[in-house]
Amino acid sequence: MPNHESNATSSRLAGFYSQDIDARVLQVARWAALSDAEVAVLRGAEGLDTGRADQMIENVVGTYCLPLAIAVNFVVNGRDVLVPMCIEEPSVIAGASLAAKLARAGGGFQADTSAPEMIGQLQVLDVPDLDAACSAILAAQEELLALANETDPILVRLGGGARDLEVRILEQTPAGPMLVVHLILDCRDAMGANAVNTACEALAPRVEAITGGRVALRILSNLADRRLAQARCTVPVEKLAFRGYSGERVARGIVEAWAFAAADPYRAATHNKGIMNGVDAVVMATGNDWRAVEAGAHAYAAHSGTYTSLSTWGRDERGNLVGELEMPLALGIVGGATRVHPTAQVALKILGVQTARQLAEIVAAVGLAQNLAALRALATEGIQRGHMRLHARQVAIAAGAAGDEISQIAERMNDEGIVRSDRAQSILAEMREPIPEPQVIANYE
Ligand code: MEV
Repeated sequence: MPNHESNATSSRLAGFYSQDIDARVLQVARWAALSDAEVAVLRGAEGLDTGRADQMIENVVGTYCLPLAIAVNFVVNGRDVLVPMCIEEPSVIAGASLAAKLARAGGGFQADTSAPEMIGQLQVLDVPDLDAACSAILAAQEELLALANETDPILVRLGGGARDLEVRILEQTPAGPMLVVHLILDCRDAMGANAVNTACEALAPRVEAITGGRVALRILSNLADRRLAQARCTVPVEKLAFRGYSGERVARGIVEAWAFAAADPYRAATHNKGIMNGVDAVVMATGNDWRAVEAGAHAYAAHSGTYTSLSTWGRDERGNLVGELEMPLALGIVGGATRVHPTAQVALKILGVQTARQLAEIVAAVGLAQNLAALRALATEGIQRGHMRLHARQVAIAAGAAGDEISQIAERMNDEGIVRSDRAQSILAEMREPIPEPQVIANYE
């Protein structure tokens, strides 16, 4: 077990960025007490093979790899955390680590979650009397919850299970009026899609009998607005100063940038995409369903009726920067790919989480950190300076560079301020041009 509780290990791994992969792996392995087999999985030498992949989905022909990295500096609820993130985009890991360092100076991230309750929906059509049907469903609540619980006795034994029923009438839809029954199910440490869908299907015949209607869809809702995670951080204003920008100037710029997203859906979509850069990368590393999390996040961002920012940024009485993020996070640490994918298992071990709620708290903190990093750059020198520096390597690879050529070409393009594939190709051609043999001129004298 990693020694998170005593906080004897610090996630503040100075210089991690400049080490080689072997040294980084060694640090993470020590930090999380990984076995040799787990290290092999982390490095990609072992991990998801086609045999196991074939058990996960249909028509498998291979596997698809993405980079896995560790974001450093995170403190979440007083505990140091190293965060495994799986993503193809440069700057995300550097941004998260930098923002976590800023938040660390203010005590790190405070995060919380509501109960892990998911909503299952039953669509009831052709109901003769909608109001009477609503009352009848609510009157039969106890019976229906018991029926739902019969579908998953293990979940009930673990302290989860059916919690509540809600009924809603949709008066006007393209298919006419309909009744919607919501089953609220506490999924504990599972994401819960299977448990919810099974329970909804089990309830359908009784719901038809009680309402006199016809049940059509029986499926969970990805607008998991009863399964929320919140993260909060305070960054001391002086810590925000960098490269000639005062802390005051950066803090003001970040609040102004947030105000733009708060007021404009076009900006909010990009602002929230930045949050999801961090969220999705941890969700993927831990084998969770990132499409479900994406769907929930964006639907929640529009829950006021207008699509807006998932985060808020402001100042406290001392002028320090205060950020908050609230979003649905339907995550599991048992079942599905979290258990089957070997790398997801190692990622969960590195995170040292014991519950799905702890995982959601870390993910919310990473989302807020990612947002802070993006707004800090956007409100000052712009996003391209840092981004292009890292992006240059990918441009060099795409142009055909290999080995040492990659960093040499990237460095030259960065120095010139031209990061483009045509420039990478011409530098590469120049570097590979054969050097003419020195001519030996015979001296007959
Ligand atoms: C790029 O992947 C993410 C950003 O566009 C987020 C933002 O604009 O806030 C930089």
